[in-house]
Amino acid sequence: MAPKLKLLLHFLLAMQLVSEAPSLVEFKNIKCEAVDTEFCTFDYCHLKSVNRTYKYISLRAKMLKLPITDAKVNAALYQRLNGYKPFLYNITVDCCKFFKNQKSSPVASFIYDSFKGFSNLNHSCPYNHDMVLDKLSAASVNHRVTNILPFPEGEYMLNFNWISHGSIRAVLKVYFALT
Ligand SMILES: *[C@@H]1O[C@H](CO)[C@@H](O)[C@H](O)[C@H]1NC(C)=O
Ligand SMILES: *[C@@H]1O[C@H](CO)[C@@H](O)[C@H](O)[C@H]1NC(C)=O
Ligand SMILES: *[C@@H]1O[C@H](CO)[C@@H](O)[C@H](O)[C@H]1NC(C)=O
Repeated sequence: MAPKLKLLLHFLLAMQLVSEAPSLVEFKNIKCEAVDTEFCTFDYCHLKSVNRTYKYISLRAKMLKLPITDAKVNAALYQRLNGYKPFLYNITVDCCKFFKNQKSSPVASFIYDSFKGFSNLNHSCPYNHDMVLDKLSAASVNHRVTNILPFPEGEYMLNFNWISHGSIRAVLKVYFALT
């Protein structure tokens, strides 16, 4: 089967398991690495605990080579066993194309939907500004994805490689637990 079709089937199957496994996302950590500091640097990148139930992640990437006309992101999910092992999803999306037609990638659309209200990454190329993710809380992610993630309880990491003109410019890792 073509890998894309297989991934889509996986995803549709996952959607079907709705409500069988209610799960809660809890953010554990976030790491931002500017691989190419001539391309971008991070003003901040943190997980903040306001109290036991309210934690949020925020980041600001300062973009140094504007305008950005070529942007791809590779998103891969890892599950923590002994060390983080690739788990189920590994997709690469052309952001410029995706934001022109969000139906072009259901998996990317699902990921994007969970944080779109909190970021300024909401239009297609060219990008002429810094990238901001502002106070994305687990509660707001849960609000959208609870009951949809059919994954087993455990610890996960979502790794995003931000690619422009064929090179990885920045890496974002979001660590979370499903309980
Ligand atoms: C946690 O902080 C948020 C935001 O300040 C507040 O709305 C909420 O009531 C607090 N929860 C607890 C358990 O203190
Ligand atoms: C995901 O796919 C990309 C491109 O095919 C590959 O380079 C990368 O190693 C893969 N990552 C994982 C975690 O499998
Ligand atoms: C994108 O988000 C910014 C900041 O939240 C908002 O001002 C702008 O209108 C949005 N643009 C689109 C195309 O939705």
